[in-house]
Amino acid sequence: MNRKVIRRNCGIALLTAGIALASGAAVAADVFEGRKVYERNCAVCHGPDGRGEMPGMPDFTRNNRVLMQPDAAVFNTVSNGKGGMPAFRGLLEEREILDAVAFMRTFIGRR
Ligand code: HEC
Repeated sequence: MNRKVIRRNCGIALLTAGIALASGAAVAADVFEGRKVYERNCAVCHGPDGRGEMPGMPDFTRNNRVLMQPDAAVFNTVSNGKGGMPAFRGLLEEREILDAVAFMRTFIGRR
């Protein structure tokens, strides 16, 4: 590839990235909204600090393995439910779940 072609391809890549951001598809989850969703729907079981209110619950300050999965994987678990956790599909919007998951990631490494 000569310089001109490389320059043109870079331009197209930047343009594409700009369109993706402007379309809303690439907007980051909102941690502040996520806190509200979490406090209303999740804290009753997971605790205000993510340590878990009942024995046998995951402690998200220690076990990061689950929350470090890609958004889509954690989203699916919360949508479908798991073990003692109810399915949130239909109860919460997709965006609300993703925001709550982003907030839960702030538990990682807390003492
Ligand atoms: C009724 C109690 C309850 C509520 C409410 C609840 N959870 Fe859970 N959650 C659990 C339990 C119990 C587990 C452990 C499930 C297991 O490993 O079998 C769990 C596990 C998880 C996990 C880890 C899943 C995995 O892959 O191991 C995530 C993430 C999670 N919950 C997120 C949420 C979010 C987000 C909300 C609120 C929208 C929420 N939970 C509300 C009880 C609850």
